[in-house]
Amino acid sequence: MEDMRSATHGPYHQIKLWPTTEATFPSTRYQGSKVKLVDWIWHQLRDIQFDSALDAFGGTGAAAYRLKLEGKRVIYNDLLRFNHQVGLALIENDNVQLSHDDVSWLLTRHPQIQYSTFIADTFNDIYYMPYENEWLDYVTTNISLLRQPYKQAIAFFALGQACIIKRPYNLFHRKNLYMRTASVERSFGNKTTWDTPFEEWFIKFIDEANAAFFSNGQSNVALRKDVFELETEADLVYIDTPYISGRGVAVDYLDFYHFLEGLVRYEEWPSLVDYKRKHRPFKRIKSPWTDRGKIHEAFDRLFRQFSESILVVSYRHDGIPSPQELSRLMRKYKRNVELLVKDYRYVLSNGRKREILLIGT
Ligand SMILES: C[S@@+](CC[C@H](N)C(=O)[O-])C[C@H]1O[C@@H](n2cnc3c(N)ncnc32)[C@H](O)[C@@H]1O
Repeated sequence: MEDMRSATHGPYHQIKLWPTTEATFPSTRYQGSKVKLVDWIWHQLRDIQFDSALDAFGGTGAAAYRLKLEGKRVIYNDLLRFNHQVGLALIENDNVQLSHDDVSWLLTRHPQIQYSTFIADTFNDIYYMPYENEWLDYVTTNISLLRQPYKQAIAFFALGQACIIKRPYNLFHRKNLYMRTASVERSFGNKTTWDTPFEEWFIKFIDEANAAFFSNGQSNVALRKDVFELETEADLVYIDTPYISGRGVAVDYLDFYHFLEGLVRYEEWPSLVDYKRKHRPFKRIKSPWTDRGKIHEAFDRLFRQFSESILVVSYRHDGIPSPQELSRLMRKYKRNVELLVKDYRYVLSNGRKREILLIGT
């Protein structure tokens, strides 16, 4: 692999990767990201004594990153592998960046590598144009060959964000490439954003990840476990589960982002796809976090599991369980339970929502 790298330099010597002065959290269009709320959340926690924190449903890492900035020892966790890569790149990583040469190598088709055409074959006419699928096939293979785990994580982070930004609704829940290609008046979305080449977005997000890493003097880690299998202890546990709306509609992260999970699991991907469905998601996996009949019990179990820690829960005011139900469950394990409410505008949805924060000490 090192041999291949020194032997080949692609046509991208002029890539601009900006030098950084101050760590900045990258932009994201991930559903449910708390990036706009973390300052408010921190404000509620700042007077509580704690040294270590577990972000148990880490997602984009926005909360873990904020706590890392405050000098806490942070444990990031998320079940999905593409999110774990984000945790590695932004939370665990203290000092690694992708260089111009790395990026140039990643963006080059190397004659000595045999590239699969899995994405081009499997997702034709579903999410991206044929030439974009081919680009994804070879760049994903190149990323899989990187040996330095943090470099690989930064590259997967940038690839995932590039994929999200080029999608209508920023999701992979439907076969709807036609929304991009049909010559109609559009009342929503941004065709220019969708049509901007992958390469440009990829480089932009590498710049952002390169600008994000920093050391806070602690040894922070990123894990990839089902929350109930975590054996980690932390002074404070931040819980931001998938959301079930009052009507019982759940956010199924694997269904929304299966394509990104597939990129990170490129070799195994063919065996994970549900070929019966038009948009080729992963085969379904049951989760209590998307089941209105099981979610109360899941919260109860989670609060019991971390009953020794300070518990902090983000949820929506209009969800299942309700704020009152969540408070009641938490009171089984915590003497003091505080319920805070904030008006908030979500990315990807019109109108305002009320976000709650439940703190159990
Ligand atoms: C609401 S999002 C978290 C958003 C995050 N706080 C942020 O700011 O980006 C919920 C996350 O839980 C993860 N998740 C779902 N089921 C899980 C499980 N059983 N164990 C751990 N993580 C899980 C999903 O992959 C998703 O990223």
